[in-house]
Amino acid sequence: MKIFTTKKSLAGHLEPFRRDGKKIGFVPTMGALHQGHLSLLARGQQLSDEVVCSIFVNPTQFNDPKDLEKYPRPIAADIEKLEQAGCDVLFSPEVNEMYAGNEQWHLDIGEPEQLLEGKFRPGHYQGVTQVVYKLFDIVKPDLAFFGQKDYQQFLVIQKMVELLHLPVELVMCPILRQTDGLAMSSRNIHLSAADRQHALVLSKTLNWLKQKFDPGKIASLRRQCEAMISAEPGVRLEYFEIADGDNLHNADRHTKKIVALVAAQVGNTRLIDNVIISD
Ligand code: PAF
Repeated sequence: MKIFTTKKSLAGHLEPFRRDGKKIGFVPTMGALHQGHLSLLARGQQLSDEVVCSIFVNPTQFNDPKDLEKYPRPIAADIEKLEQAGCDVLFSPEVNEMYAGNEQWHLDIGEPEQLLEGKFRPGHYQGVTQVVYKLFDIVKPDLAFFGQKDYQQFLVIQKMVELLHLPVELVMCPILRQTDGLAMSSRNIHLSAADRQHALVLSKTLNWLKQKFDPGKIASLRRQCEAMISAEPGVRLEYFEIADGDNLHNADRHTKKIVALVAAQVGNTRLIDNVIISD
């Protein structure tokens, strides 16, 4: 695997592929890689000729400096995982390679970034679109791969691509789960053994909802899900929504594409999860 830390060296490497009409796939990450990330890479390898993975812990998307500080950065282990998975290129820039200084701009793509996560993490998706815009500009991928785990992030980036007419196709890859149902996340390493047990209430509740789903009973099902999660010790629910999968508005009996999304604080760790109920 080739490793680049500067925009210029990466662009130089990718130029001949682009010239020869090869498809460039891109998997942006913040590292602390797990099977979920590697599944994005595998999808990228199926659909592209050259796959670039980036590892960059983007400071502008953290609204809590402590969260940024404690974000895991196991770069040597990540490189090994990417090597083993046959990744072609790793781009792992330092902060000053990505940001010129105190950059004051951001993209404002409106409603999709203000709902759900946007209420609890104001400015988070502006940091995400800022860095993803920069990364797309450097890599110029044909295809970019994101996990369903941050469903709202996918919609926000999709909207950015649409509004700015960016020439990239986004591919959403399914959530990968541990055998007990816990959604894979770089943040899971912060969970104590007890937290980890309590965290299972999120996937269990989403699963329960999927089994029981009845479009005529959305409001009462949502209340039952909220109650199930709130009853779990050590878990503080932030939101549980049953939403339209295209715009995250509250779903009703006529909504075709439905997704249920949850965010909760488990011990000191904030977790998100979701399930697609109908597509
Ligand atoms: O999903 C993530 O890991 C990050 O939000 C992303 C897309 C790499 C941007 O920093």
